[in-house]
Amino acid sequence: MTDDRQSAPAALRNRDPILDVLRTVLPDRGTALEIASGSGEHVVHFARHLPKLRFQPSDPSDAALRSIAAWISAEGLDNIDPPLQLDAAMDSWPVKTADAVICINMIHISPWSSTEGLMRGAAAILRPGAPLYLYGPYRRSGVPTAPSNEAFDQSLRGRDPAWGLRTLEDVADLAAANGFSSPEVVTMPANNLSVIFRKM
Ligand SMILES: C[S@@+](CC[C@H](N)C(=O)[O-])C[C@H]1O[C@@H](n2cnc3c(N)ncnc32)[C@H](O)[C@@H]1O
Repeated sequence: MTDDRQSAPAALRNRDPILDVLRTVLPDRGTALEIASGSGEHVVHFARHLPKLRFQPSDPSDAALRSIAAWISAEGLDNIDPPLQLDAAMDSWPVKTADAVICINMIHISPWSSTEGLMRGAAAILRPGAPLYLYGPYRRSGVPTAPSNEAFDQSLRGRDPAWGLRTLEDVADLAAANGFSSPEVVTMPANNLSVIFRKM
């Protein structure tokens, strides 16, 4: 039997701090769409601990979709739907409504067009008041960037010049242009941020 489950050490480290924030952000019931689910370790963890919510994982990568499906199957959870192939930059998402959108560690590891698509797509499917939750490292205007994040930025740009840490204020401007509130920001371990926008 093959096992397509992938595992990311960082996902195991950050899943509980993220879950603590999600408990305060997500609605009690409804469906949370995760963009860029990657290995799928996060979504099964969230689904296990938030059993009244349904989770819809997604990713554009075939290997990620196989890993997510394998994690769902291995965990035996019934509040996660099969993963969808979804590139945030696509014109029309294959999900027409959600009660929350979650996106962890994508916007610095993809071109800016992915973030533009994320904002456009999330705005199209969320009702007023519903959250868009982002997690990752950011630059902030007027605040020195932690040396570990500078090094991470350099390594990302070395892998792909279109990747790299984004400036929170640029992301917030894009969110506002798509009809989101100004962000609530929660400082997270290892110089990461939770950034929560709400659809206006
Ligand atoms: C660093 S991984 C993060 C995975 C997971 N969220 C985590 O934190 O462990 C980045 C993920 O973003 C996905 N991704 C890249 N570009 C994307 C896009 N335009 N739309 C949706 N997902 C994208 C990749 O396929 C990959 O699974």
